[in-house]
Amino acid sequence: MTAKIAFDSIDQLAHALESVGYFAERRLITAVFLSLRLERPLLLEGEPGVGKTELAKALAKVLARPLIRLQCYDGMEQREALYEWNYAAQLLHMRAAQNHASPEALEREVYQPRFLVKRPLLQALQTAAPGALLLIDEVDRADEPFEAFLLEYLGEYQVSIPELGTVTADATPVTLLTSNRTRDLNDAVKRRCIYQWMDYPDRARELAVVRSKVPQASAHLSEQVTEFVGRLRSQPFVSAFQRAPGIAESVEWAKALVALDTLTLDPEVIQDTVGVLFKQREDIAAIVPLLNDLLAPAPVNLP
Ligand SMILES: Nc1ncnc2c1ncn2[C@@H]1O[C@H](COP(=O)(O)OP(=O)(O)OP(=O)(O)O)[C@@H](O)[C@H]1O
Ligand SMILES: [Mg+2]
Repeated sequence: MTAKIAFDSIDQLAHALESVGYFAERRLITAVFLSLRLERPLLLEGEPGVGKTELAKALAKVLARPLIRLQCYDGMEQREALYEWNYAAQLLHMRAAQNHASPEALEREVYQPRFLVKRPLLQALQTAAPGALLLIDEVDRADEPFEAFLLEYLGEYQVSIPELGTVTADATPVTLLTSNRTRDLNDAVKRRCIYQWMDYPDRARELAVVRSKVPQASAHLSEQVTEFVGRLRSQPFVSAFQRAPGIAESVEWAKALVALDTLTLDPEVIQDTVGVLFKQREDIAAIVPLLNDLLAPAPVNLP
């Protein structure tokens, strides 16, 4: 497939994403399209395993942009996101130049770009055309001061480095942020982004994902997997679960079933593989008594 730098329509973008194995609902594609057109960051919130990170990977492929990823975590500091000085190299340089330069000249010399270690934000700003795709992943894990620090980048695609001045974007990076909503993000961050909530997929879309990621699974098994997981999520008792399975779990489950040469689902094979779907002991205990109901054929709607 030839990568496209820009897309003329939402359909074209949807088609391109499908061609690299990403299946998304129309609302999400529209949000991506607008984010590209308006050059605004896109904030994706949703349950784990619904394809937030995967979207960034797929989009980088179809836009032929290098993917630069900033994985956020509690306590992350600016120097891990933006830049830091290479102290060791600066020190060596100062030692070598000590007898030949004035202290002022030395200071000027060690704060040159060649002693700068570029971290994801700076790398993204300085990527040549068509520019990078910057993924700021799981931004809800970082703390509030870090969010405040992001504002300048998100609003103006620039950052300030005290020793060097303001760095603006060579080419506007396509910017995606993801959040699992473990806490509410700052309004100022949200205002600078296009917001999209990512829900669990409908059956047809989940089936398309499973079929594309696990082609070894038969059509029958893939359908059973997506039907079962879909029913799991749509039951009222799902609120009793600590964590419902995402698309990622459906894909892994289909792979596990293929590895066990499963032809059709039954309560026994589900119990043997339930650890692929659920990662909480309580959830596993809750699901076992429901297996027969979940596997029952769909009721026929009589006229
Ligand atoms: N729409 C989709 N199209 C194709 N594959 C998908 C889609 N959604 C999810 N997947 C599959 O699910 C896997 C996990 O998705 P991903 O890591 O993007 O989830 P996430 O939303 O980022 O989860 P987390 O919040 O745990 O990081 C991907 O590797 C991919 O195989
Ligand atoms: Mg992710």
